[in-house]
Amino acid sequence: ETDSLFPASRTDTFIQPFRGLFQMILVLGIGGSFPYGFHISVINYPSVHIRKFINETWIERHGSPLHPETIMLLWSFIVSVYGIGGFLGSICCGKYQTEQINNFFLVECQMCTNLIMLVAALFMAFSKTAKSFEMILVGRFLYGIGTGFSLNIHPQYVGEISPKKLRGFTNSTVAVFLTLGKLTGQVIGLREILGSEALWPWLLASSGLSALVQLVTLPFFPDSPSYLLIQKGNEEACRKAIRKLWGEGDHQAEIDDIMKEKVTMTSTKTLRVLEVIKERSLRWQLYILMTVMTTLQLCGINAIYFYSFEVFHTAKFEEYLIPYVSLGVGLCECLSSILYSYIPYSVSHFCLQDNLGPFCFLIFLGILALSAIFIYLYLPETKGKSIMEIKAEFNKLNFGKKETSVTENSFPKEQLFCTKL
Ligand SMILES: *[C@@H]1O[C@H](CO)[C@@H](O)[C@H](O)[C@H]1NC(C)=O
Repeated sequence: ETDSLFPASRTDTFIQPFRGLFQMILVLGIGGSFPYGFHISVINYPSVHIRKFINETWIERHGSPLHPETIMLLWSFIVSVYGIGGFLGSICCGKYQTEQINNFFLVECQMCTNLIMLVAALFMAFSKTAKSFEMILVGRFLYGIGTGFSLNIHPQYVGEISPKKLRGFTNSTVAVFLTLGKLTGQVIGLREILGSEALWPWLLASSGLSALVQLVTLPFFPDSPSYLLIQKGNEEACRKAIRKLWGEGDHQAEIDDIMKEKVTMTSTKTLRVLEVIKERSLRWQLYILMTVMTTLQLCGINAIYFYSFEVFHTAKFEEYLIPYVSLGVGLCECLSSILYSYIPYSVSHFCLQDNLGPFCFLIFLGILALSAIFIYLYLPETKGKSIMEIKAEFNKLNFGKKETSVTENSFPKEQLFCTKL
């Protein structure tokens, strides 16, 4: 039935055998890093409605309104309890992986995660009806736990199901789905779609849909080949899984590779956190990982998502424009992550086998430094300026100094009359 999607005459001989792999990447992404990205961006949009809701439920229960600061505190807690859940989820997942390494079922673990996400979605959907903001808190916490799990499982899973030559690409799909999730959150969070006062519980619950899709489709896909071979010792099942994912053909070389991996795995011991820190041979990997992670966290992109309203408000953007401005940020991030997935020499490719290891980071460092210089040189100061002035600044760059007034009035007028659905 899937054949009709890929008419034989136009079938790319390279893509075609890997149809199973691509389908599985899609399914893994939808329930993997996609919801993580979704929850980062989506929480902004119902911010006003939820704060009002907290106030109203409090008045109903106790007869008096809450202090604005208390409302803000509760709201911040709703935003950040996701991170706490994510932290706990990651730790649990890591513990589970190291302790039960011999019978670790990626598929089953991912299915459990989906169930957690569905429960969270139910909490969200009925929070307003039940007049309970505590349910939003619980739902958000459960979402955090779920994504903490799936964000650990997803990269490992896509790495294990892909042949070596495609591993760089498949690993980068994790980032692609993450940014797609952010973008989706931003689109359906617009007040014209689900970000309205009437529909915000459904906005927060909509993430259950991706969990449901994965829950239903994942059982049709095989377990990871290396899991089947290394942990279960079932070479036939491994061969079958590989054929299902990579098509017919001779995959003996890859199977031999997994076998080699098995030999090295039985001779390695699992390291504790402290041992990892002390281990000399992992020193630079650790430094690099920490640098990359801190850069990612410190570059402010998540702050933009969590508090985009406040950030852009401070930058003096008109209120009604903010959702669209942050949508633009999301779009840029999404595009760049897709572009990166086409860079043939991805990080994982370099850091396994080749001697080029440290140099690949120089490439990225170069890219980062260039973008930093670029931004420093070209991004105009936005503080205290209206959107028109900022536009004018950009026009100076775009068109040279003379034509600054050309597009002055080109802002779509209909946005001025946004409906309050
Ligand atoms: C809470 O509700 C009361 C009564 O409707 C209102 O006066 C007050 O401004 C609200 N507080 C906030 C922070 O919205």
